[in-house]
Amino acid sequence: MVRELSQHVAVVTGSARGIGRAIAVRLAAEGAAVVVNALSEGTAEALAAELRKAGRRTIGVRGDVADPDDAARLLEACRAEFGDCSLLVNNAGFEQRVPFEALDVGDWDRMIAVHLRGTFLCCRAAIPGMLRLGEGAIVNIVSRQGQTGGIEVAHYAAAKAGVVGLTKSLAREFGRRGIRVNAVAPGPINTDMADGFAGDWREKRMAELPLGFFGESGDVADTVAFLASPQARLYTGQTLAPNCGGLMLG
Ligand SMILES: NC(=O)c1ccc[n+]([C@@H]2O[C@H](COP(=O)([O-])OP(=O)(O)OC[C@H]3O[C@@H](n4cnc5c(N)ncnc54)[C@H](O)[C@@H]3O)[C@@H](O)[C@H]2O)c1
Repeated sequence: MVRELSQHVAVVTGSARGIGRAIAVRLAAEGAAVVVNALSEGTAEALAAELRKAGRRTIGVRGDVADPDDAARLLEACRAEFGDCSLLVNNAGFEQRVPFEALDVGDWDRMIAVHLRGTFLCCRAAIPGMLRLGEGAIVNIVSRQGQTGGIEVAHYAAAKAGVVGLTKSLAREFGRRGIRVNAVAPGPINTDMADGFAGDWREKRMAELPLGFFGESGDVADTVAFLASPQARLYTGQTLAPNCGGLMLG
């Protein structure tokens, strides 16, 4: 059995802005209890307070997903306020473009730590509660670049591809215990992250895309909402890709 969105207790990492914010806002609007997470307490609480004013059930919790204690505290704060987390969305992340020859070990380690270790740590902290509930959904936000690779994003693409391997493995290991684990691999989405790309990247990329435009954060939130819903009860170990046809470009 997969619960309705309104019945979920959700933790969305990196959800003070961008795609994570759209996911948190969408889930809260559906009636789910939502834990907003950000690197600073004030930022997390600001969105949570805004949502509470609109009558939503939310709290804001500071935490760096790459830190094992923070990840454990995040899921514990959820349990204390709303009960065990039934929906974990691993969204926290950042992109960084560095030519491979200039990529140093620190860049590599931080990228892997936030995306791959962070996703592992939050899954590790959430799964015991999902097992207590006898059900759960995990949605990991990856990227088209993890599917195709990309120039000057070797560490980002490797981290995201690693999360897909983690997704499939957890899907196999926990499927019979009621936990579905899926990934969402957006193509370019209009967020601060995409705005930060240099030069005429945006224009060139848009011209290549079969649909000819970038998606919005809400489009990714729609995909996450679907994967968390009873309509997605047959989905596990999948990567859904809201990408305007971009994957076909290779
Ligand atoms: N924007 C795009 O075009 C695009 C495309 C594909 C995938 N993605 C992925 O979607 C996710 C969200 O991207 P976005 O565009 O909304 O980016 P964003 O930079 O707007 O938001 C990311 C959020 O994650 C937070 N964060 C970063 N590191 C963190 C950490 N260690 N612990 C907790 N929070 C942390 C940031 O502070 C920020 O609030 C990322 O995983 C990104 O890789 C984005």
